[in-house]
Amino acid sequence: MNMKMTSRSLSRAALASTLLAAALGASLVLVTSADGAASTLGAAAAQSGRYFGAAVAAGKLGDSTYVNILNREFNMVTAENEMKWDATEPNPGQFSYGNGDRILNHAVSNGKRMRGHALLWYQQEPGWAQRMEGSGLRQAMMNHVTQVASHYKGKIYAWDVVNEAFADGGSGGRRDSNLQRTGNDWIEAAFRAARAADPGAKLCYNDYNTDGINAKSTGIYNMVRDFKSRGVPIDCVGFQSHLTNSAPGDYQANLQRFADLGVEVQITELDIAGSNMANAYGAVTRACMAVTRCAGITTWGIRDTDSWRGGENPLLFDGNGNKKAAYNNVLTALNAANPTTPTTPTTPTTPTTPTTPTTPTTPTTPNPGGCTASVSLNPWTGGFVATVKVTAGASALDGWRVTTVLPAGAAVTNAWSATNTGTTGTVTWANVDYNRSVAAGQSTEFGFQGTGNGQGITSTCAAS
Ligand code: G3I
Repeated sequence: MNMKMTSRSLSRAALASTLLAAALGASLVLVTSADGAASTLGAAAAQSGRYFGAAVAAGKLGDSTYVNILNREFNMVTAENEMKWDATEPNPGQFSYGNGDRILNHAVSNGKRMRGHALLWYQQEPGWAQRMEGSGLRQAMMNHVTQVASHYKGKIYAWDVVNEAFADGGSGGRRDSNLQRTGNDWIEAAFRAARAADPGAKLCYNDYNTDGINAKSTGIYNMVRDFKSRGVPIDCVGFQSHLTNSAPGDYQANLQRFADLGVEVQITELDIAGSNMANAYGAVTRACMAVTRCAGITTWGIRDTDSWRGGENPLLFDGNGNKKAAYNNVLTALNAANPTTPTTPTTPTTPTTPTTPTTPTTPTTPNPGGCTASVSLNPWTGGFVATVKVTAGASALDGWRVTTVLPAGAAVTNAWSATNTGTTGTVTWANVDYNRSVAAGQSTEFGFQGTGNGQGITSTCAAS
């Protein structure tokens, strides 16, 4: 790549500043070399509107080498263990956020965002939950999701709402666990509870061995497609990417097929063992950069000595904190990305008052062209989430358009399952590919988040 200071690299730097400011709501110094290329992972990723993160352990925040690298290189943080169920609810109904908050505060006070990991996972359940089953467990699970997502409300960029719920091997089905045995709908129930508790967080499903097109990733793909078609609130899919030597040949194609469902894709726990790891890191980064909706990459730790894969040296920094060849390959790939924004990097909202989960429904308008649209609102002081239900009339829809009129002062900040034109006043919405077809009398949903007062949004629908 020609690294001379071209107008492209200048505009890239300008765009990066804008995106960073927009994404973080705070100033963050861009580290760029004389030729315009960024010289840290976070700044390089930000040039294309993406993030670069690391899993962080609270117990290492006193290690100056670790913290120096964290502060210099990364602009997204995941708590490695501290926000999991065993850490946050060690006894039923008794919540413990000390270490999670410690990591969050370090991230926020250093201008970084947080991924939340993980609300429900069959591992690292506290002992009391491991011993539960059935409706008692279901209730405990949903309470856990609600409490933890509420505690961190407005502060988390994306939550891994459910982690590792699919089985390995060829079945493409769910993994057996006490969570799964509470009923197959536990995953969607968890996503709904998380959305109600923190409407500003993106909600992800996260798993491993899903990095290529295989039975497991296809099972998850089918679940996401189903969720999107039924309006279950899912915004992103996390690909852990614990790899050895290389990524599957269809890694990018797999990310792309999920992105085509209308969700963001995120590489959430990247580490690569083996002698080819430096090349593989470059390939994984290039794959993410090539997928518009790939929002960012997180490595599972910082130095090789921090890795859960003891002795495999799968990270970007050696035990002394020196950059490895893999680091350079990642940085080069980040710097070579198109300076376009992959998604709208949303700043988590910080509502001032707790959500009152009322859902006043605005009147459904008469069918002007084969469909109707109705809006349900989940408002809070200063913002809202609107869910719009599109219902086909007597004939099936093959494409639809919804027009919403927002009250003065209200503005759309984030949307899912439809694309919008405009953000204030009259906003038009078009179907995405997977919800284009709606059978006669059937419905699909899309949603958006907004600032201001959303009460009184009106909607009309037309077939297109
Ligand atoms: O904190 C205790 C310590 O008090 C005790 O003395 C010590 C003795 O074993 O254990 C410590 O807890 C360990 C904890 O990590 C913190 O270091 C647990 O035993 C250990 O099981 C736990 O491992 C974590 C693992 O998840 C649990 O399955 C790893 O650190 C963490 O990196 C790993 O992360 C997972 C992701 O959440 C999901 N995807 C896979 C990934 C790798 O397994």
